Amino acid sequence: MKSRIKSVKAREILSSGSDPSLEVKVSLESGANGFFSVPYGASAGSHEAFVLLDGDKNRFFGKGMLKAVENINKKIAPKLKGMSAFNQKEIDKKMIELDGTENKRNLGANAILGVSVAVACAAAQEKKMQLYDYIRGAFNLKIKKYVLPNPMMVAIEGGKHADKSTDFQEYLVSPIGKGTVKENVRCGIEVYLSLKKLLKEKGLSANVGNEGAFAPSGLANNELPIALILEAIEKAGYKAGQEVGISLDIAASEIFSDGKYRLKKEGKALSSLEMIGLFEEWAEKYPIIMLEDALHEDDWENWQKLNAAIGKKVAIVADDLTTTNPKRLAKAIETKSGSATIIKLNQIGTLSETLETCLLARKNGWITIISHRGGGETNDTAMVDLAVAVNSAFIKVGPSRGERVCKYNRLMEIEETLGKKAETAGKEFRKIN
Ligand code: PGA
Ligand code: ZN
Repeated sequence: MKSRIKSVKAREILSSGSDPSLEVKVSLESGANGFFSVPYGASAGSHEAFVLLDGDKNRFFGKGMLKAVENINKKIAPKLKGMSAFNQKEIDKKMIELDGTENKRNLGANAILGVSVAVACAAAQEKKMQLYDYIRGAFNLKIKKYVLPNPMMVAIEGGKHADKSTDFQEYLVSPIGKGTVKENVRCGIEVYLSLKKLLKEKGLSANVGNEGAFAPSGLANNELPIALILEAIEKAGYKAGQEVGISLDIAASEIFSDGKYRLKKEGKALSSLEMIGLFEEWAEKYPIIMLEDALHEDDWENWQKLNAAIGKKVAIVADDLTTTNPKRLAKAIETKSGSATIIKLNQIGTLSETLETCLLARKNGWITIISHRGGGETNDTAMVDLAVAVNSAFIKVGPSRGERVCKYNRLMEIEETLGKKAETAGKEFRKIN
């Protein structure tokens, strides 16, 4: 049988942050091959699946991935050999069982995910299908339309993604009004470049952080980036709110300690309720459309309060709270803790579970945002195909650096391929189709 897996091979590669990651190649008996390079995060949530690192201090300061490589080559590969690559769900299940832990601690979620997505890529190649169409078929998604995602571009970054910038992690530009991916991407990039000019005019650094966003050290407080971005939107000739929304990723777990959110930049320590108060004020003042991880990853009670307070106006986005985990997303849905979820393949560690989370979100009217990783991104573009497969309303990727722009280039290529069949999520992004 041509679709049978002939070999699974992994190797250590470098990620965007220069720490190692891994690439997996799955070859079928037909000669078809599939590749996937695994990303990982700098500000990973504590409920994410386990990233297996070597811990050998003599190599890459302990961050080598040779153990994960070996797990693939010696433990996973022999079990999958001979299976049909079209049996994605079975293959993922087999690896989950072989690992035997809740968070994939034995084999490593990095190892399992690498194989999982590479299998799908090989199967798509075998069927001569686009990966997004293959995913739709393999998971029986029954989605007919192609509604392409709006870009979310990180314009200013701080927190763990940059030195001496803001306490909050990300200030994003979300073009929503242009009708095509190409024009939305152009709009976001023009705002980004207009911001670069503005920062320089104001004597601020336009050096970039992990995700390709600016990370100036001289900002007076955590609110100023919003005003700067609004000015940049206007200078680029766009209308804030109508054509371009602003989104924030607070990454609040990273600034939470001893019961308070520590804003070092402002010498303040805020309680959860004070944080909610701050965002209520900002939601009134600014055209914010998305607010991600505004509270820490286990502050369930206050997530509900935040959602009740401003959820009608601003989509409350869960990232570290839900970690692409269907169980955690189910709890977030049940407790009305938000209305949108970030999706990162490596947070959960298989394509099947990622799809399960996406479908759960969709069924309950939650928005999905397929996202890059901060520290350890790779040049892989499978996340873009995933976004197209599930008609995700947004795709969150930085606006510069090769490992980020390749995602937009893939998305624009898909739009060209689909031609008239494609529409965009646009301003109607809250309507799940
Ligand atoms: P990370 O951050 O990939 O570095 O964890 C990105 C995010 O929090 O959205
Ligand atoms: Zn986040």
